[in-house]
Amino acid sequence: MTEMQPARTCLAIVLAAGEGTRMKSARPKVLHEVAGRSLLGHALAAVVAAGADALAVVIGPDRPDVAAEVKKHAPHAAIFVQAERKGTAHAVLAARASLMGQHDDVLVAFADTPLVRPETFVDLRKALHGGAAVAALGFEARNPAGYGRFVTQDGELQAIVEHKDADEATRGITLCNAGLMALDGGKAPAILDAIGCANAQNEYYLTDAVAVARAQGLRAVARVAPEAEVQGVNDRAQLAAVEADFQRRKRLEVMLAGATLIAPETVFFSHDTQIGRDVLIEPNVVFGRGVKVADNAVIHAFSHLEGASLGQGASVGPYARLRPGAELAKGARVGNFVEIKAAAIGEGAKVNHLTYIGDAEIGANANIGAGTITCNYDGFFKNKTIIGEGAFIGSNSALVAPVTIGAGAYVGSGSVITRDVKPDALAVARGRQMEREGWASAFRSAAQARKTRQ
Ligand code: UD1
Ligand code: MG
Repeated sequence: MTEMQPARTCLAIVLAAGEGTRMKSARPKVLHEVAGRSLLGHALAAVVAAGADALAVVIGPDRPDVAAEVKKHAPHAAIFVQAERKGTAHAVLAARASLMGQHDDVLVAFADTPLVRPETFVDLRKALHGGAAVAALGFEARNPAGYGRFVTQDGELQAIVEHKDADEATRGITLCNAGLMALDGGKAPAILDAIGCANAQNEYYLTDAVAVARAQGLRAVARVAPEAEVQGVNDRAQLAAVEADFQRRKRLEVMLAGATLIAPETVFFSHDTQIGRDVLIEPNVVFGRGVKVADNAVIHAFSHLEGASLGQGASVGPYARLRPGAELAKGARVGNFVEIKAAAIGEGAKVNHLTYIGDAEIGANANIGAGTITCNYDGFFKNKTIIGEGAFIGSNSALVAPVTIGAGAYVGSGSVITRDVKPDALAVARGRQMEREGWASAFRSAAQARKTRQ
């Protein structure tokens, strides 16, 4: 029998103090979004997935918006304000109260580096369990200028030297510091407190944790990740580059989980999109936040979905828009130029052409004709439309809510329905058709005679 290892506790300190002036934005950098989630939200999710059971976030002064975003993602996170930007080690020490909490592992993450995979953080933690006091994450940089360089010997990390402090030989090193680090929780306070600021920028560098640990007779090691995974965001072009990489990763994940994407490069997911097996997604489809798609569903080209759920084998589009609260049951069909909002579409029901369904319940196997509109809003209140099972709504009907159409009822085309319709009844609410035989030819001859006289 193997003995159960007690789980190691882990504190993650997320640095989010940067304003990000190069974003040229009224919003702080870490609140900009990738795949519908803030950069900060991505960083928090990654460290939590890597097993962090305590979180500390270091923010800049007067940033209630950043603090609110932290609370939204991690209600129990401790928030610390770094009053002055005096370097990355100084920022980590702003979270001293959390750091003193006797955690086995301490992870340091940057809030502007959203693509780091949880597995990568786990690897850094494992390096600690292997006896290192510090594990730093590096990458092979295509263009190393500006980054800290990893000085290694016999597989051990000797030091990290910031670009501004590096000599020519050190600047020739291409293995660069991504900035992320794991520290042994018991040793971290003593290491961080020993870091000074005698360098080119007069800053307290977190990177000096490596040299300090070695001077204290402790081990430091490097782990390496692909450059794409550790890219940070400083401006809008880098934000778009990170978005593109996120989308590539998500498309691959969706395909490997059993969905077919005919033109994956044209499909855009949200960070939380859930796609089942044997789902077919045609080109040019956009998923906003909160979409769930069950097995065997089909999403035809040029559709936009947000906050919607699709049951097994449901079909959407082409050119459909599903807004928050659109819930399609098994086998339901929503066709071209149809908008659905806050509406449950029953099993096998069809809403195939040019229709708006909002604040509604549509029973199983109902058929909603082309051009049907639920008139759900009177300028003050949203009202509900209920359509029973198997009901048939003729084309170009307006259903003025609140209104209920009974099961199996028919509504004649072109009706404006303002009162409830009983089950199995026929409701027709339009001008009655009349006909005058020979009227047209009489009209034409009279008009022609008048024109000739002029
Ligand atoms: C840092 C690393 C460098 C690495 C690079 C990767 C140090 C000293 N240098 O440099 O080796 O190659 O990241 O991108 O760590 N922050 C604070 N308070 C501060 C300073 C920074 O919260 O006083 C935060 C920033 O908001 C950011 C992160 O720490 O999230 C990194 O700071 P930044 O100024 O971008 O460091 P670099 O100079 O890029
Ligand atoms: Mg930076």
